[in-house]
Amino acid sequence: MLPAYAANPAAQLTGGGLPMDFGKRWRDGQPILGEGKTWRGLAGGVLGGVFVGGIQIAIAAAVADPALVPTFDPGLGQASPASFLVVFALAMGALLGDSAKSFVKRRMHLTRGANLPIVDQYDFVVGAWLVTLVLFPSWFLVNFRLEVIAVVILLTFFLHRGVSVLGYRMGLKAEPW
Ligand code: CTP
Ligand code: MG
Repeated sequence: MLPAYAANPAAQLTGGGLPMDFGKRWRDGQPILGEGKTWRGLAGGVLGGVFVGGIQIAIAAAVADPALVPTFDPGLGQASPASFLVVFALAMGALLGDSAKSFVKRRMHLTRGANLPIVDQYDFVVGAWLVTLVLFPSWFLVNFRLEVIAVVILLTFFLHRGVSVLGYRMGLKAEPW
């Protein structure tokens, strides 16, 4: 889950410039995604997630006993070059979920940065899970067992609050959520 967790703050740190919707509006007159979703943020977020995943892959490859670390190989072997596809899917899925959320928020006529509880917290979790489930189903089912999913749902709530308040205090986020 770490590549997905890393993608969001990495997008925040690197975001800005050309918006993903190119500043265009939907037929309801509102922005398609809004100024908070930029190409730089998407690229930086994916890079940040893959960087964190790369460290995990290196650790997995270095640990002699494969039973001690989760596998990142989509074929469920030892860490392999294809492991980078898995961490890419987690990071990209997280940011796609985040963009899908912004699309829904704009359709609800909520302005950029408006608070949408639960949805704001779990957008990237759902995105990361859906994308990896579709692309690497056997990898997903082996790694995200029910108890893991339960822990991620609980942990995400507190992580999200902590990181959002931190980002706000550091002046990186306009709102503490
Ligand atoms: N960000 C970005 N590109 C992305 C995702 C995030 O540039 N693909 C940056 C933006 O600067 C954004 C910040 O990260 O403002 C925080 O992201 P988020 O909270 O998801 O966006 P909001 O500005 O709150 O917009 P929204 O209401 O659409 O969620
Ligand atoms: Mg926000």
